[in-house]
Amino acid sequence: MMRTFDTVGVVGLGTMGAGIAEVFARSGLRVIGVETDENALARGRGHLENSTGRAVARGRMTAEQQREILDRIVFTTSREDLADADLVVEAIPEIMEFKRGLFADLDRICKPSAVLATNTSSLSVTAIAATTSRPGQVIGMHFFNPAPVMRLVEVIETVVTEEGLAAEIAELARRLGKTPVVAGDRAGFVVNRLLLGYLNHACHLLQSGLAGRDDIDTAMKQGVGLPMGPFTLLDLIGLDTSYKVCEVLFGESRDRRHAPAPILRELVTAGLLGRKTGRGFYSYTGEGTAPAPEALSKPAISLVGIVGGGPAAASFVSGLDTAGFKVVIAEAPDLGPVAGADLVIALSDTPVIELAVRLPRPERLVGLHLVGESVAEVVSTVLTSDEAVTAVCDLVTVLGRTPVRCADRAELVVNALLYPYLNDAVRMLECGYASAADIDAAMRLGCGYPAGPFEMLDGIGLEKVRDGLRALYAEYRDPAFAPAPLLDQLVTAGVPSVRSVG
Ligand SMILES: NC(=O)c1ccc[n+]([C@@H]2O[C@H](COP(=O)([O-])OP(=O)(O)OC[C@H]3O[C@@H](n4cnc5c(N)ncnc54)[C@H](O)[C@@H]3O)[C@@H](O)[C@H]2O)c1
Repeated sequence: MMRTFDTVGVVGLGTMGAGIAEVFARSGLRVIGVETDENALARGRGHLENSTGRAVARGRMTAEQQREILDRIVFTTSREDLADADLVVEAIPEIMEFKRGLFADLDRICKPSAVLATNTSSLSVTAIAATTSRPGQVIGMHFFNPAPVMRLVEVIETVVTEEGLAAEIAELARRLGKTPVVAGDRAGFVVNRLLLGYLNHACHLLQSGLAGRDDIDTAMKQGVGLPMGPFTLLDLIGLDTSYKVCEVLFGESRDRRHAPAPILRELVTAGLLGRKTGRGFYSYTGEGTAPAPEALSKPAISLVGIVGGGPAAASFVSGLDTAGFKVVIAEAPDLGPVAGADLVIALSDTPVIELAVRLPRPERLVGLHLVGESVAEVVSTVLTSDEAVTAVCDLVTVLGRTPVRCADRAELVVNALLYPYLNDAVRMLECGYASAADIDAAMRLGCGYPAGPFEMLDGIGLEKVRDGLRALYAEYRDPAFAPAPLLDQLVTAGVPSVRSVG
């Protein structure tokens, strides 16, 4: 028999709990919101009043609807008030001892039929369930921030979850206007497992000096179309939370991609936790903001040499022609035609340094990789002069693209971050944890990405990604970059889409 969920308890009315309480109340359910003390309760009520108040101000709900929503919520500091709840969703801090203590208490207080759910981002739902006498009725219900806006809810079932309960909770999520994805109890579930690996990798690349903070953020936002770059997102999530989630992921996976980057530890130890403390990777206090960009001027270059062929080089050369630059081209291994140019730009797959050492003036050679319609990675080697890099950045800007400066490493910035993330998604599919459709939906709806990893893979081409991963593996020797066997096999078999198998 299907359960009915009419009265829902929400424990912890912080960032997530207040939003979750709002989601339930908006859908007409009766909500009991529990906080630790009167101050925290007032803060939680404030979150709810502000959030619904903003919706009224934007014309998304009437003042009458706001009152009805708030009237459906009972605010209390007593857990005992949860005795009649059909479902309790916990949203207290991500600390296992706190959660286990709370669930043991909820088990004592709540009626025997009640379902107990945790909003944990990374902790073991099984370990939380084990503190109760009803582990079959304990489940993960993982909302995303901000809960009233983000459409995804990950429903996490454990090996002891009662049969059918995950489907009932998924149905409840649909009733709330959300899209559920049901998955098993693995650290990070679908979204955080894929997201934190990528964010942590960005920290490693920053530390290695591949590119600067702003360049990496710009590359991923403008080059891939993500809602924000990795460092802006880390600051938003909170560096302490990100660090903790990485530790939990690493504890389970033992994968270096999840081992928290030392820069995260340093920032967290310094108390620089991101937006919530006014500083993380960026400063939010108004100090240290970037200076206004200088007025754009066309660089004074008499002759530009281009190394490379193909459509990207052709379109770049045509842009240079239109902008009035004189261009010479070396398409073949002979670099003679460009030897006398003031500036040489390499648009080829050969490592830039290998071309530079074959020129009489290697300091004038800069690599260029065009990403999408609006970004260009500007690659300098150990021999490149600052003047040459600046000149290429100016040129690229004149031609309407945003330059991203980086060092001469395999797959540069965008592909070095994107391909391992796509590989992680293939591995997740390969081990049977979730379907390609669910993984795609989870990343689109949980992170606001323009496409899921398998949609991205199809768009880029499986072979290109596989070859890029091989290049990354050859450069960094990190086993995580070795192409997933499934990806390799699909390329070998000539299958154009991972989605056709998952
Ligand atoms: N912040 C996010 O982006 C995000 C996203 C998804 C899931 N989560 C998860 O949601 C949970 C809560 O995270 P948050 O960001 O909302 O934290 P938060 O610090 O903003 O809020 C936690 C709230 O819980 C209250 N609290 C602490 N102990 C309590 C107790 N014993 N009883 C009642 N209330 C208690 C605190 O007073 C606080 O208001 C964590 O498990 C986190 O991993 C967070």
